[in-house]
Amino acid sequence: MPDSPVFLITGASSGIGAQTARRAAEAGHRLVLAARSKDKLDALAAELGGPQRALAVTADVTSWEDNEGLVAAALEAYGRLDVAFANAGFGAARGWLEETPEHWREMVLTNVLGAAYTIRAALPALREARGHVLLTGSVVGRKVAPGSLYSCTKWAVSAMGEAVRAELVGSGVRTTVIEPGGVETPFFDNPGSGRLDPDDIARAVLYPSPSPTTSTSASCWCGRWARSSERRPAQSPRRAANGRIAAAQAAAPRSEIVTV
Ligand SMILES: NC(=O)c1ccc[n+]([C@@H]2O[C@H](COP(=O)([O-])OP(=O)(O)OC[C@H]3O[C@@H](n4cnc5c(N)ncnc54)[C@H](OP(=O)(O)O)[C@@H]3O)[C@@H](O)[C@H]2O)c1
Repeated sequence: MPDSPVFLITGASSGIGAQTARRAAEAGHRLVLAARSKDKLDALAAELGGPQRALAVTADVTSWEDNEGLVAAALEAYGRLDVAFANAGFGAARGWLEETPEHWREMVLTNVLGAAYTIRAALPALREARGHVLLTGSVVGRKVAPGSLYSCTKWAVSAMGEAVRAELVGSGVRTTVIEPGGVETPFFDNPGSGRLDPDDIARAVLYPSPSPTTSTSASCWCGRWARSSERRPAQSPRRAANGRIAAAQAAAPRSEIVTV
């Protein structure tokens, strides 16, 4: 598939990112897989068909240079970038006296600055492709979890999704924030009950990402997904009077919050 769209995923070495890569490959995308664990990325890239179909790039999302390098590698290998999924992240025990200050620092840098860097690095190429920004938020990025700085980082991701979406009105670039509940991945130290499967999230991610092999767009939602869709706001009298803003809104790509 030499011309098929290119889907970049951070945090692709494990869990939600790795399973999304599998689903995206199945749907016909070419993949750029990023994380710090080279061995896992190499194994996944081989599983997905090797360099023609999946490129493994070792990157730490907290490094601006690594994010730049990641996008440069995507463009060099495939000549385009259509989807950037800022998914890398990790958690921390709840409680303001839990974990170390260093753990907090790494978590905030990864979950917040890392996601912002990934979008910043990818944005010029996404604008050119009229592509798609995807972010992994969380249900605790909507509802505050007691004593959880992790929850605060995901509130920042929710806000980032809205800030990016609003800036990109009229650009043709879409923005989606995926907000999973508990998912059975190495995110947790121990297995738990009642958690979602990473494939539930992967399918939710792929749903609003038009497949290169079909003409499907994310116009309807079904199954177990409770969705709150960010539709264009009802026009206030002031806005209705402002033709420029109304025109920009009319040109806005659809953007979603997908709660899984
Ligand atoms: N599991 C859940 O219940 C749940 C719920 C809601 C949201 N989420 C979010 O979903 C996302 C994926 O988590 P997951 O559940 O799939 O956990 P996971 O299996 O532990 O995956 C986390 C991924 O992030 C990567 N990563 C961590 N720090 C990184 C860094 N500095 N630079 C590059 N990559 C980094 C890890 O790879 P390396 O270690 O190889 O770098 C790994 O690929 C995270 O943003 C998480 O907050 C998870």
